[in-house]
Amino acid sequence: MPTLSINGKDTTLNVPDDMPLLWALRDVAGLTGTKFGCGVSLCGACTVHLDGQPVRSCVTPVSAAVGKAITTIEAIGQDPVGRRVQDAWRKIDVVQCGYCQSGQIMSATALLKGKPNPTDADIDDAMAGNICRCGTYGRIRKAIKIAAQGGPA
Ligand code: FES
Ligand code: FES
Repeated sequence: MPTLSINGKDTTLNVPDDMPLLWALRDVAGLTGTKFGCGVSLCGACTVHLDGQPVRSCVTPVSAAVGKAITTIEAIGQDPVGRRVQDAWRKIDVVQCGYCQSGQIMSATALLKGKPNPTDADIDDAMAGNICRCGTYGRIRKAIKIAAQGGPA
């Protein structure tokens, strides 16, 4: 039974080591904010952080997360950068259906933690793997820039 550090709390889960982290988080730990989209690392809906790096939890086995700090959308607001990103998202109403947005916020937060003042090219690179069927890309870019400037007034 692997013990995972999930949102700052050590949690032992009765799951096989090769279970995708996404299933362990959603179905066993009950953290359903992280979404299943494609299951094959093509859409970004399942993005979480491992030691601050964005990963696709649908293709990450639980064993790869042991010993690392897992952060999900449920706790990203406890991080100052994550909080700014969420505030910027709210400020300009980025969300349409919302399905992709946990992953978008996790990728955007990882970007800004590594590059506080990203260029358009940096944003393109960091966000390219996060698909939004509602086409909120323009608002996502704008919200990232608001968050980079210190968050909404
Ligand atoms: S569900 Fe993981 S990338 Fe689509
Ligand atoms: S807001 Fe609907 S898929 Fe992105």
